[in-house]
Amino acid sequence: MNLLIIGSGGREHALCWKIAQSPLCDKLYCIPGNGGISAQWECPKLDGSSFEALAEFARAKNIDFTIVGPEQPLVDGIVNYFDKTGLKICGPTASAALIEGDKAFAKELMSSSGVPTARFTIHHNLVYTLESPHLKKFPAVIKVSGLAAGKGVFIVDSPREAENILTEIFARKKFGDAGSTVVVEECLTGDELSIFAITDGEDFIILPPSQDHKRIGEGDTGLNTGGMGACAPAPIGDPDTLGQIEERIIIPTLEAMRRRGTPYRGLLYCGLMITEKGPRVLEFNCRFGDPESQCVLPLIKPDLLELLLASAEEGGIARWKRKNPWEVIYTGNEYAACVVLASEGYPGSYQKGILIAGHDREYQDTIIFHAGTKYEGERFITSGGRVLGVTGLGKSLKEALDRAYSAIESINFQGKYYRRDIGWRALYSNI
Ligand code: GLY
Repeated sequence: MNLLIIGSGGREHALCWKIAQSPLCDKLYCIPGNGGISAQWECPKLDGSSFEALAEFARAKNIDFTIVGPEQPLVDGIVNYFDKTGLKICGPTASAALIEGDKAFAKELMSSSGVPTARFTIHHNLVYTLESPHLKKFPAVIKVSGLAAGKGVFIVDSPREAENILTEIFARKKFGDAGSTVVVEECLTGDELSIFAITDGEDFIILPPSQDHKRIGEGDTGLNTGGMGACAPAPIGDPDTLGQIEERIIIPTLEAMRRRGTPYRGLLYCGLMITEKGPRVLEFNCRFGDPESQCVLPLIKPDLLELLLASAEEGGIARWKRKNPWEVIYTGNEYAACVVLASEGYPGSYQKGILIAGHDREYQDTIIFHAGTKYEGERFITSGGRVLGVTGLGKSLKEALDRAYSAIESINFQGKYYRRDIGWRALYSNI
């Protein structure tokens, strides 16, 4: 098959790496890709945000199947566009991708279908938002409803902080239309868990549970980022918890999406808080998580391409399950840990164009995924905030982490920043 992957991050490098292992894969393209992806697969230079240009490319190259990494094209309707023009693609349609694209919609869907989530109110202006009962107790959570590139969620500790954030959102329109609706929530406590479900809208399979580390600083402190590292399987995702997540969250959510006539197909990412009272949904995303995919995909044995093809067909996942006993999910390595190397200053401003060294050596049971990199003048340079994801594999989480951190010592670029405590919750949990 000829395949096209859309996107440019570590997630897309992990997708290319995994999909290229499929016996069904003949030729793989990635648009726009990044430095590391372009070193292994073809990354044609065309406008990745234009559905017309992508579809024209897909027709010209006889692309049999397209896989979309980031949320924006899904929310903008790339699946509808490709479906209409007879091109095979996986992922949710625009109305199903609202589960990520419109947080107020997702909360109302959960509320009406009994899916456990934090209590919330929805607002359209500053004055009424300040009246929310969830802004009487702190910390509280304020989220802009639309897509905000991971920057639209705020944990506020006082009424003044809430008012400042809401002024930015409503009066200064910091997030444009994405901030015209706001969700206010009670702040949940517990351990966070990321679950990826691959679904055809009816049936689904879940991949190993993983745990992201969203804050920039060690001990989960400082500003929120896209994710500074992840590990899998996360011990907090024990079989009992996974059973509850399937029964109380994934099944009713897929049912609710079918009932409203917008069945959800593709990858459903459940961002969860495992509280004392059980799992609660923090957010749904309509795509693979990043960096979680950089540790989940190297762990699983099944052919991801077959699974994604199954998600795009009616009854495909049930057929896939009949053929594949799920017990064989893991490869020989049972744990993976991905540590993100970022540019100094991230998630604020940072320099680009810095030479990267040592990333192209062989490290034992370690995979280097590129994110913000460029290949220019026969060398790799930084081009983004999150530069590389270094994934170590092992028989234990400790072994996986040791491998990742050992490789990191030999990978260098000026201003290299990383967290030294990835996996700390998983390592020190008593589970
Ligand atoms: N790791 C967080 C995300 O992908 O949204």
